[in-house]
Amino acid sequence: MVRCGAVAGLLALVSSVEAIQRHPLPISELAKQVEGKDAYDGLSAREIDLQALYPEYNLSTPIDHFHNDSSYEPHSNGTFNLRYWFDAQYYKPGGPVIVLTGGETNGAGRLPFLQKGIVYQLAKATGGLGVILEHRYYGKSIPTPDFSTENLRFLTTDQALADTAYFAKNVKFSGLEDVDLSPEKTPWIAYGGSYAGAFVAFLRVLYPDVYFGAISSSGVPKAIWDYWQYFEAAAVYGPPACVETTQKLTHIVDNILIGKNGSEYVAQLKAAFGLPNVTHDGDFASAINGGIYGLQSLNWDPSQSSDSFFVYCDKVSSDDVLYPGTEARRDSVEELIKVGGYEDELETLANRFLNYIGYVNQTSVARCAGDQDACFTTYDPEFYARDDISQTWRLWQYQVCTQWGYLQTGSGVPEDQLPLISRTIDVDYSALICREAFNLTKPADVEYINRLGGFNISYPRLAFIDGEWDPWRAAGVHAIGLPERPNTPSEPYILIDRAVHHWDENGLFPNETTPDLPPAPVADAQKQIATFVQGWVQEFTGKY
Ligand SMILES: *[C@@H]1O[C@H](CO)[C@@H](O)[C@H](O)[C@H]1NC(C)=O
Ligand SMILES: *[C@@H]1O[C@H](CO)[C@@H](O)[C@H](O)[C@H]1NC(C)=O
Ligand SMILES: *[C@@H]1O[C@H](CO)[C@@H](O)[C@H](O)[C@H]1NC(C)=O
Ligand SMILES: *[C@@H]1O[C@H](CO)[C@@H](O)[C@H](O)[C@H]1NC(C)=O
Ligand SMILES: *[C@@H]1O[C@H](CO)[C@@H](O)[C@H](O)[C@H]1NC(C)=O
Ligand SMILES: *[C@@H]1O[C@H](CO)[C@@H](O)[C@H](O)[C@H]1NC(C)=O
Ligand SMILES: *[C@@H]1O[C@H](CO)[C@@H](O)[C@H](O)[C@H]1NC(C)=O
Ligand SMILES: *[C@@H]1O[C@H](CO)[C@@H](O)[C@H](O)[C@H]1NC(C)=O
Ligand SMILES: *[C@@H]1O[C@H](CO)[C@@H](O)[C@H](O)[C@H]1NC(C)=O
Repeated sequence: MVRCGAVAGLLALVSSVEAIQRHPLPISELAKQVEGKDAYDGLSAREIDLQALYPEYNLSTPIDHFHNDSSYEPHSNGTFNLRYWFDAQYYKPGGPVIVLTGGETNGAGRLPFLQKGIVYQLAKATGGLGVILEHRYYGKSIPTPDFSTENLRFLTTDQALADTAYFAKNVKFSGLEDVDLSPEKTPWIAYGGSYAGAFVAFLRVLYPDVYFGAISSSGVPKAIWDYWQYFEAAAVYGPPACVETTQKLTHIVDNILIGKNGSEYVAQLKAAFGLPNVTHDGDFASAINGGIYGLQSLNWDPSQSSDSFFVYCDKVSSDDVLYPGTEARRDSVEELIKVGGYEDELETLANRFLNYIGYVNQTSVARCAGDQDACFTTYDPEFYARDDISQTWRLWQYQVCTQWGYLQTGSGVPEDQLPLISRTIDVDYSALICREAFNLTKPADVEYINRLGGFNISYPRLAFIDGEWDPWRAAGVHAIGLPERPNTPSEPYILIDRAVHHWDENGLFPNETTPDLPPAPVADAQKQIATFVQGWVQEFTGKY
C-alpha cells in the first residue's frame, strides 16, 4: 500500500511501501504523479539499475479468463503481455518456483526482493527459482489501449488471479526450457505483501492444485468499505502524548467545523492554519492531517524508511514553541481552543496547537504558492475525465471503488472514541473520486472479496505474517480482537514485534548486515519462513 509525502501524508510513493490506499489525493498530487516523479509506479534509482541486472520477459496471457461471466461483457478474445523477471542462479533440480506477486505497483519496484529480499532468501534456502510477476494493468502489463472505465472492466482481482495460475501452467523460463517446471512436477510457492498478501492467500484457496503453498505478508483478506480502523495501530502503538494531542486538536477542529459555533470560527480556523482559501471543509481537513499517516512508511531498513511519523509526533507533543513564526497566531489559537471546547486545557494545548500549525505550514501550506483550492481540492471533473495510460492513479483507485474499499475516514470512528483525523473526512468525501472518475455511486462490492473468508480465511500451507504496528493489520487475520490462531508448520501465523508493513519482504546483502539490522524479530521471522517453506517443498517431493 502506498505511502505519502507531506500534505496528504501518503502521496509520494516510496519503493518499499506500496499503494494500497490513501485518503483522496488532492488533484495537484495526482497530477504530479502523472508527470512522473512521484508516480505510483515511479521507481527509485536502485530499482532502475536493477532492471539492467534482470532482463524482463513477457508471457502472452488472455485478457478475459471468464467468458461465462457477464460482468466482463463485451468479452475479449485478445491477449496481453504479462511481464516477469526471474533469477535461476540458485535453482537446483527438484527445487520450487517462488513467485512474488507484484500487487498494485510497477513490478520492477519488487526487484530488490529478488536480489536480496525474501525471494532471494527462499530461493537460496530451497534451491528454488525466484520470480517477480507483475499484476495486470500495472507497470507494463497493460491489456487495454487506455484506462477508461469501460476498459478497466478487466481489472479485477479474479482476472489477475487467473493470470497468475495461467502463468504457472504456461510459462517456459528462458534457458530452462528442458526442465519440467509444471505445477504437477514442481512445487509453486507464492509470496505477496499488502494487497498482494491478500492476493496470494486467495490464490492458494482458489488454485490449490497450481500453487502448493502461499505466504501472505501484511495481507488484507478482509475488504472493508469504511476502513476507519486504519488509524487504530497509530492510536494503540503511537507515542501516547502524540496520540492524545492529535485526538484533542482534531476534536477542536471538528467542534468548529461540524459544531454549532458559527461559520466565523470556521474561517478563523482555516486562517490559523494559513489555509484561508480552501473552500471545502474536507479538503481543509485533508490538508492538515498528514503527520499521523506516516506510521506506514516506517521501515527497519534505514534506506527504505521515513521517520515522518515520529517527526510529526515530536513536534505536536512538544511544549516548547518550535516554529517562532506561529507566535503571531497565539491569540487566535487560544480563542479557537476555547470555542472548540478545551478551555480547561488551554495551557497545555496552546503551544502544541501552534506547533501543529507550524508543522502543517512547513509540510503542506508552504508547498502551495498559488490558488489554495487548486492545490488542495479533490473536486476537478476535468482531471477525473483523463483516462490515457499515463493516468496510473486510476488503477488502484478503481480497485478500491469497485471491490476493496479501504476508505480511511475519521467519521467511522465510534462516537465514544476520538478520531486521529477529522470526522469531516467521511465516506461521502472519500468516495467522491469513485463518482467523478468512474461514475460509480455504490459502495464497493466487498462481499465479493470476502466470500473467500475475510478474517476467517485459512488453508493448508497458507502462512500469515503480520506486523504488530501495521495500520493494515486491522484488515487481516492478526486484527486486534480476533482470536489468536496456533502457529503450525502448515498454517504459520506470525506477528512480528514492533514491525509495520511487510517488514519480512526486504533484506540486506550479507556484507550490509549489522548486529541490529535486520532487527532480531524480522530476522527470526525470515528464518521461520525459510524453514516452513523447506518443509513444504519436502512434503511435495514426498508426495509426487
Ligand atoms: C514485452 O512486451 C512489451 C510490450 O508490452 C514489449 O515492449 C517488449 O519488447 C516485450 N519484451 C520481450 C522480451 O518480449
Ligand atoms: C465461470 O467458470 C469458472 C471456471 O472456469 C467458475 O469457477 C465460475 O464459477 C464460473 N462463473 C460463472 C459466473 O458461472
Ligand atoms: C471470441 O471467440 C469465439 C469463438 O471463436 C467467438 O464466438 C466470439 O465471437 C469471439 N468474441 C469476440 C469478442 O471476438
Ligand atoms: C486568499 O485569497 C485572497 C483573495 O483572492 C488573496 O488576497 C490571498 O492572498 C489568498 N491567501 C492565500 C494564503 O493564498
Ligand atoms: C510558514 O512557512 C514559511 C516558509 O518556510 C515561513 O516563511 C513562514 O514564516 C511560516 N509561517 C508560520 C506561521 O509558521
Ligand atoms: C462552541 O462549542 C463548544 C462545543 O460544541 C462549546 O463547548 C463552546 O462553549 C462553544 N463556544 C462558543 C463561544 O459558543
Ligand atoms: C453513470 O451511470 C449511470 C447509471 O449507471 C448512467 O445512467 C449514466 O449515463 C452514467 N453517466 C455517465 C456520464 O457515464
Ligand atoms: C469465523 O470463524 C469463527 C470460529 O470458527 C466462527 O465463529 C465465525 O462465525 C466465523 N465467521 C465467519 C464470518 O465465517
Ligand atoms: C556487498 O555484496 C554485494 C553482493 O554480493 C556486492 O554486490 C557488493 O558490491 C558488496 N558491497 C561491498 C561494499 O562490498
